[in-house]
Amino acid sequence: MDTWRNKMHWTTLLTLALAAPSNALVRFHCSQLVTQRLDPLVQPGLIPSTHVHQIVGGNSFNASMPPQKDMPGESTCTSCQFTDDFSNYWTAVLYFRAQNGSYKRVPQLGNNQFRDANGGLTVYYMQDAIYETQQKSKVTAFQRGFRMFIGDVNARTLAEASRYRQLTYTCLDTFNQRSPELIAFPTQKCKEGIMTSLRFPTCWDGKNLDSPDHMSHMSYPETGTFESGGPCPSTHPVRTAQVMFEVVWDTKPFNDLDWPSDGSNPFVWSFGDATGFANHADYVFGWKGDALQRILDAPCHFMTNCSTESNSKLQSVADMNKCTQKEVVGEDIDGWLPALPGGYQAQYGPDS
Ligand SMILES: *[C@@H]1O[C@H](CO)[C@@H](O)[C@H](O)[C@H]1NC(C)=O
Ligand SMILES: *[C@@H]1O[C@H](CO)[C@@H](O)[C@H](O)[C@H]1NC(C)=O
Ligand SMILES: *[C@@H]1O[C@H](CO)[C@@H](O)[C@H](O)[C@H]1NC(C)=O
Repeated sequence: MDTWRNKMHWTTLLTLALAAPSNALVRFHCSQLVTQRLDPLVQPGLIPSTHVHQIVGGNSFNASMPPQKDMPGESTCTSCQFTDDFSNYWTAVLYFRAQNGSYKRVPQLGNNQFRDANGGLTVYYMQDAIYETQQKSKVTAFQRGFRMFIGDVNARTLAEASRYRQLTYTCLDTFNQRSPELIAFPTQKCKEGIMTSLRFPTCWDGKNLDSPDHMSHMSYPETGTFESGGPCPSTHPVRTAQVMFEVVWDTKPFNDLDWPSDGSNPFVWSFGDATGFANHADYVFGWKGDALQRILDAPCHFMTNCSTESNSKLQSVADMNKCTQKEVVGEDIDGWLPALPGGYQAQYGPDS
């Protein structure tokens, strides 16, 4: 493979790249596995963890997930469309804060093209951050035991949030809308819900499967951005796929309730952030064997095409919806609650 690549003339590569997509942009959905207070990445072993998460992927998800864990081997199903993907993907959940101070959880919707999915989130692995078929770069898949986190749960100001590129909100006027992307919660009523888009860094140090803050083994490009093809820094030389989540929050039913009269936003994250600046996401890699690399190396675009081109199996949305896990914490997260699970109240920042 290396010999083949070395012998290829640069212009030949360029011609190939322009002629056809050389690599994959894959987008697929994962239904809800479970929603509860567990956080095996940041608070391993803690039952319950401090705040509520919504989790998708393989059903070997557990309060504690050591790097040597065999996620494909220990799972009996996955809530994701690719049957070889036993990874776990998760985020915090949104709550609506009523004028009387009570909280109610905001459920998720199946995304565009996956409307029948039971909540969950949509996952992308991108080689180049354009949605077109042309994906010119070659990127390396993650390894067993790899995990990462992005965002800052303590961020309450724009300055704190700006360290993290592209953890955004889109106020959906139509279900297909994808812009503008905001860094804070939208303050107006969004007709079709709120979408969060979360993009992880794309440069790996090539050595560590994790790091104490779950972020420093990864980096954004040295200059420019992933979108502009910015190079990886020498400390993090391995270019990985960009993992991105899209989560659609069904805020529509809350538009008919009383909203704050001062024009502020009534939605808060499950750990109390009412600014939106503390948007964050977690990823624990759990694809079977080389299944992810096979897809990344296939000339394909989106889901069905990537399945065909890489010989990977897809399951139906009905089967994805069947893969769920019993919650183990045993608390009410869905009634009208006097405080967020874990005891949090809404926290507003200096800018809100
Ligand atoms: C989580 O791990 C514990 C201890 O290893 C085990 O008893 C339990 O069945 C696991 N739960 C799930 C849902 O896999
Ligand atoms: C608070 O307001 C919500 C929304 O109007 C309502 O459903 C709930 O019952 C109220 N809770 C209390 C304790 O009054
Ligand atoms: C998959 O999509 C790519 C890009 O659109 C195209 O070149 C390729 O022929 C497609 N493969 C199949 C099997 O449809």
